[in-house]
Amino acid sequence: MAPVKTLLVVNGPNLTMLGRREPTIYGSETYEDLQNFLRAEAAKRGYLVEIFQSNSEGEIVTRLNRAMSGRYSGIIINPAAYTHYSYAIYDALLMLSAPKVEVHLSNIYNRESFRSQSVTAGACDRQIFGRGFFSYADAMDVITMILDERAKGQ
Ligand code: DQA
Repeated sequence: MAPVKTLLVVNGPNLTMLGRREPTIYGSETYEDLQNFLRAEAAKRGYLVEIFQSNSEGEIVTRLNRAMSGRYSGIIINPAAYTHYSYAIYDALLMLSAPKVEVHLSNIYNRESFRSQSVTAGACDRQIFGRGFFSYADAMDVITMILDERAKGQ
């Protein structure tokens, strides 16, 4: 039997405030709901998921550095506000060879102008936005696709 593949999901600042945070933009579901959604969607696709959240840039960088172990089949990251200015997270992502997808719950392209700029997306294989929790499920499918393509290319 093939070993179970594990995905790492990294969530940035303020995402634990889901449900209470600007519900017209982010919806009424909580961070706990998001975590349950991630586990369920990962299981449907045959993945295990490790979920990490931090409000601190340094902790996110350290967690990504630890992911260098090669233990993850894919990385899904919602850097939240760090998306727009963190070169440290960009550099940490660049080091990782597993498929990487940046996700956003909201459509960052039709909000304040500063959100239209993503520093971190340049270090990822894809960016998915504006689909609420489903942005993460779509990211899982993209990771599966990239892994399949890489396996065929071998
Ligand atoms: C976000 C969009 C960011 O601009 C914002 O700072 C967030 C959440 C999203 O998921 O839509 O905190 O990443």
